[in-house]
Amino acid sequence: MLTIFHGTARPQSNSRKIANFYHELLEERNVPHQFFTLEGLDKSIFSKTYHDEKSPEQAHIEKDILAPTKKYIFIVPEYNGSFPGMFKGFIDSTDVKSCFYNKKACLTGVAEGRAGNLRGMEHLTNIFNHIKMDVLHFKIPISQVDKHLDENGKLNDPEIIKLIHIQIDLFLKF
Ligand SMILES: Cc1cc2nc3c(=O)[nH]c(=O)nc-3n(C[C@H](O)[C@H](O)[C@H](O)COP(=O)(O)O)c2cc1C
Repeated sequence: MLTIFHGTARPQSNSRKIANFYHELLEERNVPHQFFTLEGLDKSIFSKTYHDEKSPEQAHIEKDILAPTKKYIFIVPEYNGSFPGMFKGFIDSTDVKSCFYNKKACLTGVAEGRAGNLRGMEHLTNIFNHIKMDVLHFKIPISQVDKHLDENGKLNDPEIIKLIHIQIDLFLKF
């Protein structure tokens, strides 16, 4: 299974809009996939570790969404020069062996500023390699995200859309 993973719980986030765009694109291309977001999860999940007893919600996420995933497309906002702490908290709460070991990852960064979360994607690459994941070399930093969304919050920059198509083609073969 291929999973689009939206890496923040912040409501109405711009990275969610970018993740939605990936979802629509995969639908158009008839690529089977599922969508997962940290938005709306019980907040206690972000401060647990894998030693803690799992809530029914977390057990369901791990068993039915993460464990069956073979490839992840991570859409990750930049918070204070890196990826969101709640995302790391989430990873730390999981059974990494079943959820992440030996899986493949593709990364897109989303930022209000000019860096497009390049640094956060590098931080994540190191962490993902540590938990035995292979990361696609073709990462997309989306800077100044507001400028690339229309009034309905839809990505409308042809250059970025072209890059996303290239990235998806590469990732499907990866
Ligand atoms: C806690 C926090 C820290 C942030 N730090 C940065 C930053 O270091 N650099 C940057 O370009 N944007 C930063 N932003 C703005 C986000 O990149 C911006 O909100 C963008 O839309 C992606 O985040 P979102 O998906 O939550 O909307 C920060 C936002 C939050 C909530």
